Amino acid sequence: MSNISWILGPKPEDMPETWKLRISQLFKQETGESYTDSTFRMLQIPEWNGNRLLINHQDYPHPKSLIGVLWSKQIFDDRVRIVALVIEKQYQGQGLGTKVIKELFTTSREIERNTIQLEVRVSNLRAQKFYQRFGLNIQQTIDNYYADEDGYMMVGTV
Ligand SMILES: CC(C)(COP(=O)(O)OP(=O)(O)OC[C@H]1O[C@@H](n2cnc3c(N)ncnc32)[C@H](O)[C@@H]1OP(=O)(O)O)[C@@H](O)C(=O)NCCC(=O)NCCS
Repeated sequence: MSNISWILGPKPEDMPETWKLRISQLFKQETGESYTDSTFRMLQIPEWNGNRLLINHQDYPHPKSLIGVLWSKQIFDDRVRIVALVIEKQYQGQGLGTKVIKELFTTSREIERNTIQLEVRVSNLRAQKFYQRFGLNIQQTIDNYYADEDGYMMVGTV
């Protein structure tokens, strides 16, 4: 575990192709989502504390060293939207997600953005439970948010 840490990420569109490919694999495996090159460009995730990569430094800089991603951005006057949070299966359940979410909450408080918002698959009960632990609750159902499924919008206060 000591070789693993969350680092600041570059803008998704500026990543080397090999790393984009690795992230696409990770999203596909863990969430079923397909990310293409244009998705990376459209995301508009800036370089800030809410853009983090989970790195296993033992394998760095090989793309396999990338074992998790948190992408979020500031929206409206008062919100932070989590666009993606994924950790590779073998590293899940070890507190790594909790750590980065707590850090995001701290940053959000510091910049006086007191609301956190995200979308999650209706079927992803584990992720819903995970976010509920941090005070996020289901606010509404978004029909057909995913290609194959409805989504929930979850919202909470930091
Ligand atoms: C959801 C996710 C980011 C949580 O990160 P994590 O590092 O696994 O979560 P933590 O280890 O901090 O877990 C906190 C709690 O959540 C629960 N939990 C969430 N995911 C878990 C998992 N895969 N395995 C075990 N427990 C899990 C546990 O109850 C845990 O409670 P505990 O600490 O009392 O054991 C991660 O599991 C993941 O990438 N899942 C697949 C992708 C996904 O669903 N992303 C969210 C889409 S919006």
